Amino acid sequence: MSKSYHVAIVGATGAVGIEMIRVLERRNFPVSKLTLLASARSAGKTLTFKGESIVVQELTENSFAGVDIALFSAGGGISKQYAPHAVAADAVVVDNSSAFRMDPNVPLVIPEINGADAAQHRGIIANPNCTTAVTLMALHPLHEAFGVTRVWASSYQAVSGTGAAAIIELEEQVKAIALGKKGTEIPRSVYPYQIAFNALPQVDSFLDDGYTREEMKMQYEGRRILHHQRFKASVTCVRVPVYRAHSVAISAEFERPVSLEKAYTALRQAPGLKVTDDPANQKYPMPIFTAGQDDCEVGRVRLDCALDNGLAFWVSGDQILKGAALNAVQIAELLV
Ligand code: A2P
Repeated sequence: MSKSYHVAIVGATGAVGIEMIRVLERRNFPVSKLTLLASARSAGKTLTFKGESIVVQELTENSFAGVDIALFSAGGGISKQYAPHAVAADAVVVDNSSAFRMDPNVPLVIPEINGADAAQHRGIIANPNCTTAVTLMALHPLHEAFGVTRVWASSYQAVSGTGAAAIIELEEQVKAIALGKKGTEIPRSVYPYQIAFNALPQVDSFLDDGYTREEMKMQYEGRRILHHQRFKASVTCVRVPVYRAHSVAISAEFERPVSLEKAYTALRQAPGLKVTDDPANQKYPMPIFTAGQDDCEVGRVRLDCALDNGLAFWVSGDQILKGAALNAVQIAELLV
């Protein structure tokens, strides 16, 4: 019989943590024991795994005794503070935050792209940024075919990427506006502006050069995952009133001559990616279809009319799954 593992989820009550529980269950991950950890606020709550109620415990430095694999998704500060305690207790940490993504001693992994890197870990493996993950699922096969040099991209990011509170905020704003409420009557606490019926061109804080941190992740994380130090990405990240699944419009320039035929062949063969591209029949990837689905979808593939050797395309993927919980569990699968 194969071995089974004591798994802990840090941030188990959050949007990603809840999904991690479901993904472990759905993929039949060999779990001998599941420990659910969150803040003191959630201690005593129960969550269900395989029909069994599990009581959420408060995260402490001593939470990791006997834990084999710890999936972290409670923000960068919590990861920085507690991941070393998990490693000291001999657990392998799969961290969904940005805390360790640029640490050269920590592999940054999308299993379909650079799964082999996971073997280099020294206790911690990082999960990439959600927008980067969704984008690379389509960009990587094209890079293999033609050699990407640089991309220009705009994202359309769902509110669930901000966390559980943002999902409630969008819902409450939509309800308030439907009731005719205006101005300060529209509840707002998570985002600096109303998100319902709006598009917010700020995801994350600004850097001195005018890009946001989130936008630069595509280039910096992309370089590590693609093993391509010269890869460049100019990105505008936009929050949109979509509950779930990020979409990205991309123009990519390549070293070698591109053809649509070769591009489709590469995309169709890529694991974890579906080609949905029949614009004449209004078939293209959309968050209403990619939400809740493991595979990312790519479509609207065309020769880029502004580049000598480029492709324009549109990719959509469930950022809580491929951008977070699913990718984390897939990394854990590489470990077992
Ligand atoms: P809690 O629900 O007890 O606040 P989201 O990003 O969806 O809001 O989820 C964040 C996750 O991180 C939640 O599970 C949250 O637990 C957890 N979390 C936040 N702060 C802490 C903390 N200080 N210690 C442990 N878990 C935390």
